[in-house]
Amino acid sequence: MISRDTKERFLSLYKEKITRPGADKLLEWLEKESDFFKAPASTRYHLAEEGGLALHSLHVYDRLKQLVETEEKNTGICHADEESIAIVALLHDVCKANFYTVEMRNRKNEFGAWESYPYYSVDDQLPYGHGEKSVYIISGFMKLKRAEAMAIRWHMGFSDNDFKGGGYSVGNAYEKFPLAVLANMADMSATYLDEAGKEE
Ligand SMILES: [Fe+2]
Ligand SMILES: [Fe+2]
Repeated sequence: MISRDTKERFLSLYKEKITRPGADKLLEWLEKESDFFKAPASTRYHLAEEGGLALHSLHVYDRLKQLVETEEKNTGICHADEESIAIVALLHDVCKANFYTVEMRNRKNEFGAWESYPYYSVDDQLPYGHGEKSVYIISGFMKLKRAEAMAIRWHMGFSDNDFKGGGYSVGNAYEKFPLAVLANMADMSATYLDEAGKEE
């Protein structure tokens, strides 16, 4: 089950920082019409557990906030207000809502006793891509600033399918939108530093 702390922190950050028109409807959709707060962050790789997606989004928030503050102080290159940071971080992986299915399977634990565990697989209800899908979902509820849309669209960096298919848009976007670079760094740090070793 998602920990109460995770859900409460997500909700209080969201409500405090994201106040533009439509934000409340998007939150209502997340809570009532999607499995966002139940979903894992991945099938196997990081936070493959109930509530993993919300916890990952919080990790990205903490990382992105720190990265933007450091960059603002040291170079002045990246300016992003509190609302933009919260939108990009908390919602970058909203594409993973209504995306996984779960079945309970049995396995022997380290003491040789049987235990059940959640086994996730992908069953994408809205096959629209990854970052672009998050932008699409959010835009159905509220207007994104250009830099926010870019940061969410390209948060996967050079492992995005567009780049793997030979596209160069990710690099072009990074040249123009520093927040997008930092979003990718925040996502990587959350996944590989904060969540390392927590996979199934
Ligand atoms: Fe992602
Ligand atoms: Fe992510």
